Amino acid sequence: MDESSFNRRDFLKLAGVGGGAVFASSLPGCANFMPGKPDNDFYFVQLSDIHWGYNNAAVNPDFKGSLPKAIAAVNSLEQKPDFVVFTGDLTQSTDDPKLRRARLKEFRDMAAAINVPVRYFAGEHDAALDRGEAYQEFFGETLRYTFDHKGLHFIVLDNISDPAPILGDKQIEWLRADLAKQKPDQPIIVLTHRPLFSMYPQWDWATRDGDKAIDLLMPFKNVTVFYGHIHHEHHQKTGHIEHHAAKSLMFPLAPVGTVEKKTQVLWNAAKPYDSLGWRSIRAETGGEAHVLMEQALAKT
Ligand SMILES: [Fe+2]
Repeated sequence: MDESSFNRRDFLKLAGVGGGAVFASSLPGCANFMPGKPDNDFYFVQLSDIHWGYNNAAVNPDFKGSLPKAIAAVNSLEQKPDFVVFTGDLTQSTDDPKLRRARLKEFRDMAAAINVPVRYFAGEHDAALDRGEAYQEFFGETLRYTFDHKGLHFIVLDNISDPAPILGDKQIEWLRADLAKQKPDQPIIVLTHRPLFSMYPQWDWATRDGDKAIDLLMPFKNVTVFYGHIHHEHHQKTGHIEHHAAKSLMFPLAPVGTVEKKTQVLWNAAKPYDSLGWRSIRAETGGEAHVLMEQALAKT
């Protein structure tokens, strides 16, 4: 499939939510296309809400296949991403500490097959029951951290290890200190699990003190937040800051307003893997805009 025919037939491309992101959707097997990538820009891949250990076949009969399929798709990308980031809920929650560790180990061992660098952080399913103790045994990183890549400053925020759910004053001060070291025109990407804004607190789709982090980020012109947790694609702005939720690899949740209670969407045999997927993000080093491409999870 050449680029022009792909564009014409298969893309829904929208000029973003107020001038920042550009969105695109792709069909399985067309994952290599990243529109207009200049040499000095790069792209990375977001995988989210894998829930390794989940085993309800009525919701996803291929519960052992979702992660390998996503890894195979990423590894087969012709143009390699600079890195992959897993935005939390690597594993399905369990009260059994031994089983939690077994799931984390299995997940880590499988993800080791990814052929580009990988960044991880935890979701509440991984870390809320023991404040991240087991997670850190396997992934070593602290639950919050920063890194820089080709001119962009990445900040990983932990809004999951405190079940409140909050970032907490200590982390807010850590964020304040980190931002104090950044120039006003520094492009910033925040990676976190729950939405920082109050999308729907009744369903735990919020961070109670997330507005404090948003306030600290507001002076920066180019800030984009990528997160997971809600298990469907969603785009919102708070002021000029964009927030983009990713799909899950294991099960979709019904969007707010479509059902009364938070509900996992049952498997549809007529549309297998519907609403499951992952995302490529072309990051412009100037931070002016990012191109988001939603990738469907392939059937085979
Ligand atoms: Fe999740």
